[in-house]
Order: sequence, then C-alpha cells, then structure tokens
Amino acid sequence: MLTMIYPIILVSVLAALGNTVGARKITRDDMRAHQLEAAQRFKRTPHNAVKRSNGVQNITFSNPRASDFYVNGSALPLVDFDIGPSWAGLLPISGNANETRQLYFWFFPPGPEGSLDDLIFWTNGGPGCSSLEGLLQENGPLSWAWGQAKPTVNEHSWTNLSSVLWVEQPVGTGFSQGTPNIENEDQLAEQLVGFMQQFLEVFSELKGKKLYMTGESYAGTYVPYIANYIYENPSLLDLSLQGIWVSDPSLSWDVVQEEIPAVDFVHKYAGLFSFNQTFMDKLDKKAARCNYTGYMDKYVTYPPTGLLPLPGTSVEFDKGCDVWDDIFNHALIINPAFDIYRIWDTYPILWDVLGFPGSFPQKQSPIYFNRKEVKEAIHAPIDTKWTECSNINVFPNGDQSLPPAFTVLPNVIEKSQRSVIVHGLADFILIAEGTRIVIQNMTWNGLQGFQTPIANDSFIVDGVGAYGTMHSERGLTFYEVALSGHMVPQFAPVAAFQIMQYLMGFRDMP
Ligand SMILES: *[C@@H]1O[C@H](CO)[C@@H](O)[C@H](O)[C@H]1NC(C)=O
Ligand SMILES: *[C@@H]1O[C@H](CO)[C@@H](O)[C@H](O)[C@H]1NC(C)=O
Ligand SMILES: *[C@@H]1O[C@H](CO)[C@@H](O)[C@H](O)[C@H]1NC(C)=O
Ligand SMILES: *[C@@H]1O[C@H](CO)[C@@H](O)[C@H](O)[C@H]1NC(C)=O
Ligand SMILES: *[C@@H]1O[C@H](CO)[C@@H](O)[C@H](O)[C@H]1NC(C)=O
Ligand SMILES: *[C@@H]1O[C@H](CO)[C@@H](O)[C@H](O)[C@H]1NC(C)=O
Ligand SMILES: *[C@@H]1O[C@H](CO)[C@@H](O)[C@H](O)[C@H]1NC(C)=O
Ligand SMILES: *[C@@H]1O[C@H](CO)[C@@H](O)[C@H](O)[C@H]1NC(C)=O
Repeated sequence: MLTMIYPIILVSVLAALGNTVGARKITRDDMRAHQLEAAQRFKRTPHNAVKRSNGVQNITFSNPRASDFYVNGSALPLVDFDIGPSWAGLLPISGNANETRQLYFWFFPPGPEGSLDDLIFWTNGGPGCSSLEGLLQENGPLSWAWGQAKPTVNEHSWTNLSSVLWVEQPVGTGFSQGTPNIENEDQLAEQLVGFMQQFLEVFSELKGKKLYMTGESYAGTYVPYIANYIYENPSLLDLSLQGIWVSDPSLSWDVVQEEIPAVDFVHKYAGLFSFNQTFMDKLDKKAARCNYTGYMDKYVTYPPTGLLPLPGTSVEFDKGCDVWDDIFNHALIINPAFDIYRIWDTYPILWDVLGFPGSFPQKQSPIYFNRKEVKEAIHAPIDTKWTECSNINVFPNGDQSLPPAFTVLPNVIEKSQRSVIVHGLADFILIAEGTRIVIQNMTWNGLQGFQTPIANDSFIVDGVGAYGTMHSERGLTFYEVALSGHMVPQFAPVAAFQIMQYLMGFRDMP
C-alpha cells in the first residue's frame, strides 16, 4: 500500500513481498497524473446507455407570465460560469384569489443531451428542509457542496437527463410563503398538487410530460404520498406519472430504520467508530437485551416466513433500548466531527455555504441563499430569512400519517412503471439494513418482500464496477450504494445518475 507524505516529493514505500523487501518511488507528478486520470474516468458519463435526444430544442414558454420568472444564468452571484436558462420564483398552492400560501420553485430545462418528454420533480425532506440543498449540492447543474471553495459545474446534473423542478415544500420551508396548517401527508399532497396546477398554467408547454417524483430522507414519506395522491386523482394533473425515487428514505418506524440495525452497523464499520472494548461490550449487551441482536439473521429472510415482529412494544424504542443515541453520543467523544450523514468525516469540519449539515457546530456566514443579490437573481422574497431546514414546524401538530410502507407505498409501486429505493451504505441517520427490514415486511404485487436474496457486488456502475448491491423484483428495485452517505446524488453522483437513467427507462439494466 502507498503511504503518501505530501511535502516530500520522493516517497519511499516499503512493500513486503514474502521475505523480500522492495522499495518503490512515486513522484508528486506521478501521483497527480494517477488522480487526474481517475477523476477524468469518473467524470465521463457512460454514454452507451443514455437515451440521446436529437439535439434538444430550447424550451420557450408562450405564457408571457413565464418571463417574470426567467433567471439570467450568467448572472448568478459568485458563480463564474453560465448555468444556462432557468425559471424560478413563487407560485400559489391554489387558484383562489385570496390564496396566501406560495411555494418557491426553481425549474431547469434539459441540457443539450436531455429528453424533452420528461420532467423530474425533486424534494428534500426534514420535514421542513429546502430542496435548494438538493439543487446546489446534490443533483443540480451547479455544485457548491461542503468544503468546496467555489461552485463548479456538476457533470452529473440530472438536467442532463431531462427537465428538473426543485420545489421548496411544504408551506413553511425555505423561501415558501404562508402559515403551515397541514396535519398529514394527504394534505401535503393536495397542496403540492395545487401548486403544480398553477405551475403548469404558467409553464403550459410542460403539460403531458412523463413525470418522476423523487426525493430523499423524510421525502421518503412525502414522495409516496404525493405519488399516491396523483395516481388516485388522475384528473388533477396534466402529467403522466411514471415512477418514484426515494433515497435514504423514512418509510417506516424509527425502531426499524435506526435502532435494530445500529449495533450491527457499528460492528461493520468498527474501525471507523473505534470504540473501546468496554463500550462495545455494553452496546452488545444492550442490543441483546433489546432483541436487536440476531434480528436480521432470524427475520430478514428471502423470502420472508411471515410478518416481521417489532423487537419490543414501541415503534421508537423501548425503555433502556435507545442504542442509536448511545452510539451517536459516544462517537462524538472521540470524534467531535462525527457526521451522522456520512460516518467517516473527521476534523476539520467542512465549511458549508448553506450552513448545514456537515457543519453543525459552526456559524457560517453569509449563507448563500441569504445574500440579497442572490435572492434578487432568483426571484426569491428579499425579506424572507432562508434556512436550509425550517425553524418552524411545517406540521404544526405533527404528521398524523402512518409511515408509507404500511399505507400507500405498495399501491404506488404497483401503479408505477418502475420504482427505486436507494440507500447510501455510510448513512447512520437512517440505516440501509433497516430499509431491508421495511422491504421484507411489505407486500406489493401479490407477494411479501423479495423472494431471492440480495447478492453482494450486484450493483454494477458502468465504467466503475461493483458499487454496492442491487436487487429488483415486481417493479421495485433496491440499491445499497457504496461510498455514499445520506445524500446519494452528492456522494455517489455517477451511481445516482445511472439509477435515474434506469428509473426513466433510458436503460434496461438497473
Ligand atoms: C439554445 O440557446 C442557446 C443559448 O441561448 C443557443 O446557443 C442555442 O443555439 C439554442 N439552441 C437552439 C436549438 O435553439
Ligand atoms: C445576463 O447577465 C450578464 C452578466 O451580468 C449580462 O452581461 C447580460 O446582459 C444579462 N442578460 C440579460 C438578458 O439580462
Ligand atoms: C378564499 O376563497 C375561497 C373561494 O375562492 C373560499 O372558499 C375561502 O373560504 C376563502 N378563504 C378565506 C380565508 O377567505
Ligand atoms: C451535464 O451537465 C453539465 C452541466 O450542465 C454539463 O457541463 C455537461 O456537459 C453535461 N454532460 C452531458 C454528458 O451532457
Ligand atoms: C410488519 O408489518 C406488520 C403489519 O403491517 C406490522 O404490524 C409490524 O409491526 C411490522 N413489523 C415491523 C418490524 O415493522
Ligand atoms: C424481547 O423478546 C422477548 C420474547 O419475544 C420478549 O418477552 C421481551 O419482552 C422482549 N424484550 C424487549 C426489551 O422488548
Ligand atoms: C471507553 O469508552 C467509554 C465511552 O466512551 C468511556 O466512558 C471510557 O472512559 C472509555 N474507556 C477507556 C479506557 O478509554
Ligand atoms: C456479503 O458480504 C458480507 C460482508 O460485507 C458477508 O458477511 C456476507 O457473507 C456476504 N454474502 C455472501 C452471500 O457472500
């Protein structure tokens, strides 16, 4: 293995080869060349499987109101390249003249090779977190993620596939205006669809497009409920819903997605957590007492042998059974930079232009979307203080809906052409193995769970190789993505792009 000691140009590395000891030298130029080559290889979007349009015609919108929303792509503050044409601003959630609630959106047409027949909708989660995080740090045409000194072009922007609409929803999120009053996910869906109707009146050239509902984290709850609402009320929206993407999604109870798999997760990544033996022993004892130990082997079988039980009586955790918080608190003792969204982060905590989430203890300033000149450039309300995740509760009395795995998700999978559930393997806030439990306890298209096991190394990313696992049955494809934390399009952009190509029918193989 190479040991790189940066300031030294010639680094000798001792490689033990049986009994012989050989010396290798690598120059800094060599190192650079290797890395450049790797970066170039990664940058190239695998084109063999991409559906290519015959040169996208620029979208023009005939409704004169559309021009009020036009964003000058070469005039975005602090961005030194042209991000292309886009449209952004506020639109109401209904056509009522007295409507006070408005959602903020940012729409991008497809890039030169994208499809004009499709429309991707993206929302972040929270509840109350802004989809502008997704746009700026995950799947938009420009990238200004944690630790980046300045924005760069995102070579794996989803706008390379088709039009994309990022919406800050529900009411109470980001720049969106009005007082939140929803109590459940059906009301959230109703308001979002109301907004979409208003959006399609202004941007009517988008009517009739194939629609993909996508989102991450708590949007794992939003997206199935919105999709279900659209499928069950087909006359409301002049769009043709095809399928959903949910990544690192909230689909079920906390005990399932956070507690049961937490100690197994620590064992799997023992080197990263580096807990001492005394603490590990305590954790193991607690996991055993709480019925978490061995749960995966016993109940998560392919096919399942019946409904999967809860480990105790609570859907969060029974008294004395909150191992997730124990792990989090102790991880912080030896690594104050420990990041539940990507477990291998260490000091320094990276600066974040959006002030979240790699950067909890830091006070970043200014936040990009709080700059007056940025707000002006993107038709955002100047007087609204933007925060990545809302300080007010967007469900004033909580979200009364049951998790979607127990309600709408099976119907959405059944009505969709394709559905994908995606999970980053290095995410600790929601754990991939917990999502396996959710899937094995869910019945869709006539059977419960996956019938055959999820094979290792089964997710093959074009041009890269094995990148985690992939398993597909009865219209549902599940991916566990290697080297990715919670935000899959941010941490594994090549993988995320390929998964979207599959979801959209641009490639046959997942
Ligand atoms: C689309 O717009 C760009 C920039 O305004 C221009 O360079 C290009 O020629 C246009 N393409 C078409 C097909 O109209
Ligand atoms: C867009 O912004 C650029 C850079 O500020 C400016 O040169 C150009 O005139 C602007 N275009 C329009 C149509 O306002
Ligand atoms: C707003 O108008 C709608 C009908 O257009 C009416 O049903 C509703 O009660 C009005 N709301 C308020 C707060 O005035
Ligand atoms: C993808 O989008 C980026 C940003 O718009 C662009 O620079 C890049 O050329 C696109 N790649 C392809 C393959 O279209
Ligand atoms: C599995 O599903 C059943 C029926 O919906 C439910 O009662 C049970 O709590 C679920 N188990 C888990 C582990 O979520
Ligand atoms: C563990 O499971 C056993 C047997 O099902 C049950 O009696 C016990 O109460 C469970 N323990 C906890 C902490 O829930
Ligand atoms: C082991 O870890 C626990 C929890 O972080 C801590 O309280 C204890 O002092 C540690 N023991 C040693 C020897 O570091
Ligand atoms: C898959 O990999 C895990 C470790 O990552 C290992 O424990 C397991 O045995 C492997 N499964 C198969 C079927 O090889």
